[in-house]
Amino acid sequence: MPFLEGKKIALGVTGSIAAYKAAEIVSLLVKEGAEVQVLMTEEAEKFITPLTLKTLSRRPVLCGLWNDDAASWKPGHIDVASWADLFLVAPATAHIIGCFAHGLAPEALSCVYLATRAPVVIAPAMNVNMLTHPATQANLATLQERGNIIIEPDEGMLACGDSGKGKLAAPAKIVETLSQILRAKDGNV
Ligand SMILES: Cc1cc2nc3c(=O)[nH]c(=O)nc-3n(C[C@H](O)[C@H](O)[C@H](O)COP(=O)(O)O)c2cc1C
Repeated sequence: MPFLEGKKIALGVTGSIAAYKAAEIVSLLVKEGAEVQVLMTEEAEKFITPLTLKTLSRRPVLCGLWNDDAASWKPGHIDVASWADLFLVAPATAHIIGCFAHGLAPEALSCVYLATRAPVVIAPAMNVNMLTHPATQANLATLQERGNIIIEPDEGMLACGDSGKGKLAAPAKIVETLSQILRAKDGNV
């Protein structure tokens, strides 16, 4: 996938049971030659460690807003927002989708969402009833109307034991989608 080579991808990881799949997404992107800056919500850290994602991405992970370790004088979320060629959130919880839709910025990911002018790609993962709830559907519709790209979750047996739509799309499909978006952005349609 030549369109990922040298591209700067900000990857937001949120507190979904599918957060472990972010490791494969990072690994695939790095193999394709992309630079990956991972950001995690506090809840994401309950599902996968920053150390795992730091090692796979070969960069320190941005955890929270109040991280004073970065080399740059700029706040980390503003730095990432202007650095990124594309902002991917995978997996995206109902909560972060709601924050994005309503312009709320209580943590680093939603600050990046508001501050970046890069294309935004959101891969939701959640229980089928959470996904099909009118509130979540309205929030997703708002994001789509704004031009954000939603990678539809897959159907199947969900981690909670229910069956239906809500599984995070396959990491390979997510990476392929990013490649297509960046190809179009570069004018290679
Ligand atoms: C075991 C477990 C699994 C969860 N999985 C999901 C999920 O897949 N999708 C989702 O939207 N919320 C899920 N949640 C709820 C979120 O973790 C919760 O809404 C949290 O506040 C999200 O925070 P964040 O969006 O800032 O990461 C789960 C909670 C638990 C305890």
